[in-house]
Amino acid sequence: MIDAHFCTALRIVVSNWRSQLTAEEMTQQLCDPVAFGLAMLPALDVELAKLGCTRTDVHGFAWQTPCLHLRSVFDPLGIPDTPLDFRPIPDCAGTLVARATAILSLAAIGADAVSYGSENGGDLFVNLVVIPGEGRVSEKSQGKMNGHTDGVSFPIRGHRDPEDSRIAPSPDFVCLSALRNPNAVPTTVMPLDAILNQLDPQDIHELQKPQYILQSQLTFRDGMEEILGQELLVDDAQLLFRMNSGFWIRFSHSSTQTAAAGESPAKQAMQALAKACLDCFIPVTLAPGDIAIVNNRIALHGRTKVGEEHGGQSRWMLRTYGLDTSELDDSQRHPDSTFMLFP
Ligand SMILES: [Fe+2]
Repeated sequence: MIDAHFCTALRIVVSNWRSQLTAEEMTQQLCDPVAFGLAMLPALDVELAKLGCTRTDVHGFAWQTPCLHLRSVFDPLGIPDTPLDFRPIPDCAGTLVARATAILSLAAIGADAVSYGSENGGDLFVNLVVIPGEGRVSEKSQGKMNGHTDGVSFPIRGHRDPEDSRIAPSPDFVCLSALRNPNAVPTTVMPLDAILNQLDPQDIHELQKPQYILQSQLTFRDGMEEILGQELLVDDAQLLFRMNSGFWIRFSHSSTQTAAAGESPAKQAMQALAKACLDCFIPVTLAPGDIAIVNNRIALHGRTKVGEEHGGQSRWMLRTYGLDTSELDDSQRHPDSTFMLFP
């Protein structure tokens, strides 16, 4: 019920906002997403109160939910053909409303909409679409995606990279706004609770040891070279972290290896984790106008195969990240941006 109330309140607040502004004014306001989110919160509180709900209720619910599925939360009206690359996002009413709703939904749960300078030029929103052509990026855009957390080579919030303290934490949330999904290709979500239920205590113990190597995900590699002079590779990485509230995870099937070659308890635990992901994924099918806020600490996410269709009316999601930035150091940001994190 809380999610339905949250949807209703978000729709009303963003519709009112949109009705008072030109597209140019909307674009201008979204340039500073943090200020925009803060400015809109009082109106959201009023709408939630009318439904007998508070932002504290929404906040508590969101942080315990592997995936918050906000159904029909915005109208994807008048959008052009599906783009053929990660960026730019076409400026039109449908994408502006999608972006405003995503930013406000994150602000409501105590997370700023953020990007990383090393991924897609640091754009706050990117198109998740089929990218035509040759090469790994194009292939990845069409294929199935196994379970992973985003920003896997970045430290979890509250920790620092052992060699470069400027590296910002990975996001708390991955936020997907659906503009088109004609074949109802599901996003897949694997709750960490369900995964851990499938693992034996020995595997859970191994995953908490600093004995894995994490490579940066493909979309970050070029930007890392440019900003850091090399791709960020983390040795002696831990995958599972015991927190006050339970466990947090970071993992990517394609970017995680064990430090020692050959069979080992570490490798066995990683294989058990990968197998558990296959056994406990939940398909979340996003319809146009839906937003999914996937918790990047207590869930892994992926996707089933998309296929080759591109442009036109093909699948199109917008993606941004959410992070509780209250403990972020200034050195973990790019100085000329309110939302772009380092690297
Ligand atoms: Fe992802």
